[in-house]
Amino acid sequence: MGSDCRLVRRGLYNQALQRVPVPMELVGLDFKIPSRKVQEDAKVQLKKFHVDLQFISGDITTVVPFPDGFFDSIVFCTMLCSVNNPIKAAQEMKRLLKPNGGTLGYVEHVATEPGDGKPFFGVQQQLLDPLQQAVADNCHLHRYTAQTIHEAFPLARILTEERFFVDEMWPVSCQCCGVIQTVA
Ligand SMILES: C[S@@+](CC[C@H](N)C(=O)[O-])C[C@H]1O[C@@H](n2cnc3c(N)ncnc32)[C@H](O)[C@@H]1O
Repeated sequence: MGSDCRLVRRGLYNQALQRVPVPMELVGLDFKIPSRKVQEDAKVQLKKFHVDLQFISGDITTVVPFPDGFFDSIVFCTMLCSVNNPIKAAQEMKRLLKPNGGTLGYVEHVATEPGDGKPFFGVQQQLLDPLQQAVADNCHLHRYTAQTIHEAFPLARILTEERFFVDEMWPVSCQCCGVIQTVA
């Protein structure tokens, strides 16, 4: 979720939330619980869409205290770049997600690949990676995150998937997003 609830407070989920037909319970997970003020702001923002938000402090690379298949949907943004072990995080999300028809949505910045035709950028990412980890809270510049997700969810149906560059966000300009759906 992020300790500043950036995406919720900026209203970046609003368009999607308008289309949610029923009241929804949303659990925001992060290592760091947001301040009381941030929590209140986020809750007020989401109440307009009949979304009830609760925060929990937890580590997505360990066992998060919910039963198997508890969540209909899991959404994350620039999270697998920051966790210590992205494979364990993806496996835990798989455990938490409904095994048939659950949806996983993500936006992540990732390693550039040979097909992108940006070899110099790839070298920059690798050189700057240790510095980025040190100054940006363990954020890694050079992870193959889409592959990590596909390996954790080998049978999932890919509903949408995209790779794109946001040049003004260098060195995190190479990004990917997608929605996959579990199939039992
Ligand atoms: C780059 S921030 C993104 C925050 C938010 N998703 C956003 O887009 O604003 C990465 C977040 O992942 C959290 N994080 C890193 N490792 C984690 C872990 N193992 N379990 C839970 N949260 C973690 C950090 O505390 C941080 O808030």
